[in-house]
Amino acid sequence: MNSLIRNPNEVSLARVALVLFSVAVVVVFAGVRSNWFAANAQNGKGPDKTTETDRQNDANAQRMLAEGKQTFRFDTFGDEAFWADTVQLHRALEGEAFGGVGPGVSPKTALAVGLKVDSEALPESLVQELKHGRVDLDNPATTLALLKLNAVVGVKGTFKDDGSLKAVGITCALCHSTVDDSFAPGIGKRLDGWANRDLNVGVIASLSPNLQPVADLLGHDVATVKTVLQSWGPGRFDAELFLDGQAFRPDGKSASTLIPPAFGLAGVNLHTWTGWGSVTHWNAFVANLEMHGQGTFYDPRLNDAVKFPIAARNNFGNVRSTPDLITAKLPALQFYQLSISAPTAPAGSFDAAAAVRGQAVFSNQAKCAVCHVPPIYTEPGWNMHTPEEIGIDAFQAKRSPDERYRTAPLKGLWTHQKGGFYHDGRFATLGDVVDHYNSVFSLNLSAQQKADLVEYLKSL
Ligand code: HEC
Ligand code: HEC
Repeated sequence: MNSLIRNPNEVSLARVALVLFSVAVVVVFAGVRSNWFAANAQNGKGPDKTTETDRQNDANAQRMLAEGKQTFRFDTFGDEAFWADTVQLHRALEGEAFGGVGPGVSPKTALAVGLKVDSEALPESLVQELKHGRVDLDNPATTLALLKLNAVVGVKGTFKDDGSLKAVGITCALCHSTVDDSFAPGIGKRLDGWANRDLNVGVIASLSPNLQPVADLLGHDVATVKTVLQSWGPGRFDAELFLDGQAFRPDGKSASTLIPPAFGLAGVNLHTWTGWGSVTHWNAFVANLEMHGQGTFYDPRLNDAVKFPIAARNNFGNVRSTPDLITAKLPALQFYQLSISAPTAPAGSFDAAAAVRGQAVFSNQAKCAVCHVPPIYTEPGWNMHTPEEIGIDAFQAKRSPDERYRTAPLKGLWTHQKGGFYHDGRFATLGDVVDHYNSVFSLNLSAQQKADLVEYLKSL
């Protein structure tokens, strides 16, 4: 009978064996499962099957990129109505010899005021002539020839049968592209999205033979308008002048701001130094109100007659042109702009070891990354700060609807060191920017930490 009575130890051994077996099954199954998912789901990326919808979206993306690039580089949105018909800039460009006014603008002068020449647009024969110094760069006729080739970045000419200019218009590329100087200074391949910090927009605009309509708009005489335009300096423009008429800051300096880069903007919520709106809001704003293209623009914030007297008086917050040459181009233009990534800092342009140390300072002791959140280097969300928060005056902030400064996305800082930093270039160097934060936020950074931080900023 003893054999019928099971040894209690045997029972517990059997249980342990059963439990171990079950665990093994679960582990093996889980392993198979995760292998299956890894193989079939590419680490959570989803099945790699291209559907018809995917193909349509891909084709759409390619089409938008191509269209947007074309618009960014070459579209004037009909702004010849302003630049040629109204202020007659084309007549100053061609000069008396072609029926215009004054001496005309030679390629040398054009390059001196920061205009750029797209070497890819030049035919091989002209490239050879240029290389051998056989092109007359002092002759405005050469400028006209370059315009005919569509080689002057951001300036588009249309011509009469006799070869003189019928009109000129400007495109986004005028201010937001430069060239790589690969052929000669100011002549090279296009770099879209780079701020043209050589371009003297004010001096170019002040050449216009008929500034009376601008003077009327601002309620001043032409001489004053010229003084204002010439006060801007290279790489600068005042996008708010035609809204509020404020040409100078309380300290007497120009109220203009730096031309910002237009790359690395994907993922960034608000745009412009003072966060006026999204990329497409601002594109519509600029195309209608600054370039003076023919389109539609709606922003009732401009009806504020105290803050924006000129805009309110002229109904700039509700522009309706017929035909509308802008609105249909906004989708692809935005798409192209968001696709322009910030260029990588060239090796050797910064001290790599110091930059690695600087990254730690940026994220830790200096707390920069609280606002400049990597990898977009601005805040995901409402990326705006009061002037007090960053320790500067409120003048420019007050000229915008939200009265704040937008956290500048820092990628590609190395491309726009000319003209200084912050909206008005008040800090000549990155070292000056770091010193500012060091004192405003009492960061107690050592000289070494500051130097490392600068190298990191140059590496972005
Ligand atoms: C005459 C020079 C000029 C032209 C032409 C111009 N811009 Fe700008 N752009 C500026 C300036 C200056 C600012 C900064 C304005 C401000 O903050 O008040 C700016 C700001 C921007 C910004 C915001 C960038 C950021 O940091 O968020 C975008 C986007 C932009 N421009 C796109 C365009 C597009 C698209 C066009 C053509 C439709 C265009 N711009 C034409 C001078 C120009
Ligand atoms: C409270 C948020 C905040 C913090 C913290 C902060 N920044 Fe900024 N930063 C801003 C804002 C806002 C601007 C735009 C200022 C302007 O347009 O005048 C800016 C602008 C800059 C610019 C100029 C970019 C340009 O295009 O000219 C640099 C460089 C910069 N910050 C670096 C830093 C560094 C380095 C630190 C840490 C020491 C830091 N920031 C900390 C908000 C911040």
